[in-house]
Amino acid sequence: MSRNILITGGAGFIGSHVVRLFVKKYPHYKIINLDALTYAGNLENLEDIENEPNYFFEKANILQPDQLSEVFSRYGITDVIHLAAESHVDRSILSPLDFIYTNIVGTVNLLNVAKEQWKANLSGHRFYHVSTDEVYGTLGDTGFFTETTAYSPNSPYSASKASSDHFVRAYGETYHMQYVITNCSNNYGPNHFPEKLIPLFINNIINNKPLPVYGKGENTRDWLFVIDHARAIDTVFHHGKNNETYNIGGFNEWKNIDLVKLLCKLMDEKLGRQPGTSEQLISYVKDRPGHDLRYAIDATKINKELGWSPSVTFEEGLAKTIDWYLANSQWLEHVTSGDYQKYYEQQYAER
Ligand code: NAD
Ligand code: DAU
Repeated sequence: MSRNILITGGAGFIGSHVVRLFVKKYPHYKIINLDALTYAGNLENLEDIENEPNYFFEKANILQPDQLSEVFSRYGITDVIHLAAESHVDRSILSPLDFIYTNIVGTVNLLNVAKEQWKANLSGHRFYHVSTDEVYGTLGDTGFFTETTAYSPNSPYSASKASSDHFVRAYGETYHMQYVITNCSNNYGPNHFPEKLIPLFINNIINNKPLPVYGKGENTRDWLFVIDHARAIDTVFHHGKNNETYNIGGFNEWKNIDLVKLLCKLMDEKLGRQPGTSEQLISYVKDRPGHDLRYAIDATKINKELGWSPSVTFEEGLAKTIDWYLANSQWLEHVTSGDYQKYYEQQYAER
């Protein structure tokens, strides 16, 4: 079956891997990447597929409904995979309103345009909303988030994502739009913007800069290789049940400090430095306000119902990630020039 799929946020970290997977795997689909190219959007992420005949890029903003309607009409969009968002928790603490506009208002704009454009036959279309495990809040030392865990977001970022999830669900109930939502754990891999823990620390180790560990480094995250997230999105898009939620995770929990020490060890090996060199860069700094202690996803539903599981071990994924950053120093230089420096100053100067 032929489809014209609108992927929003396709120039970002996860979106670029989703776009690449769909463009290559489904040559009979048209893949339309709609992205406003904020600081986090980078067309260099997609240079290898930009000339594929089934790939199209549209610079447009989900805060502009007219732009969305025009793109929907011109391409005859049949389905949406929505990833465009403000995605960094620390930035949401500095500037919550940006998250309310993009993540809530932008999602509702997209829902409205899809509803209007698909009104003749709502049941023939799918709205896929990509969300996060952070909507569930925080866990203590034990337990897992399941699809029925109550929402309890703690940061402006997670509150805005929780709200967008509720709107998608409400459009399903109220207007009978067909949707799926996935809530995924922390991703890592190539093209990750160096404001997030793993790429930030890789970049700082390369440049011999301090590694700012928040609090005591005891917070725990469940890490998934980004290509396995893209595979999960492909699986749910094609086989997930309408109006259902699926949790996606790596069954791979790491305390931040243990992860940072592993990263230091691997980087010393790759850079030919004496063992222990990079660990000396670790610097404990003021904690993130409202810092969630632990995330852990129970991914049984997607595994049992749809047969998805991660394909890459953490050791393999981390090695591939480090190799990618070491081979792509130009990419790192481009994304860390200009505004990045201002953000870095504001975020870390007073910690
Ligand atoms: P990212 O910040 O790397 O990319 C976001 C993309 O959205 C960028 O290309 C940016 O230009 C675009 N964008 C931002 N505002 C826009 C607007 N108003 N109009 C159009 N485009 C806009 O984010 P990411 O880490 O790739 O995350 C993608 C999605 O996955 C987000 O919805 C995020 O909440 C979700 N998610 C991320 C993770 C993670 O670990 N990174 C985990 C689970 C879920
Ligand atoms: O769980 C999914 C979420 O994972 C996604 O929805 C978000 O978009 C994504 O950014 C990520 O959120 P986190 O806040 O967990 O990721 P981050 O890489 O910012 O931080 C990971 C952990 O490392 C967290 O406990 C905070 C800590 N940290 C982070 C930074 C940037 C530090 O100790 N120092 C730092 O400088």
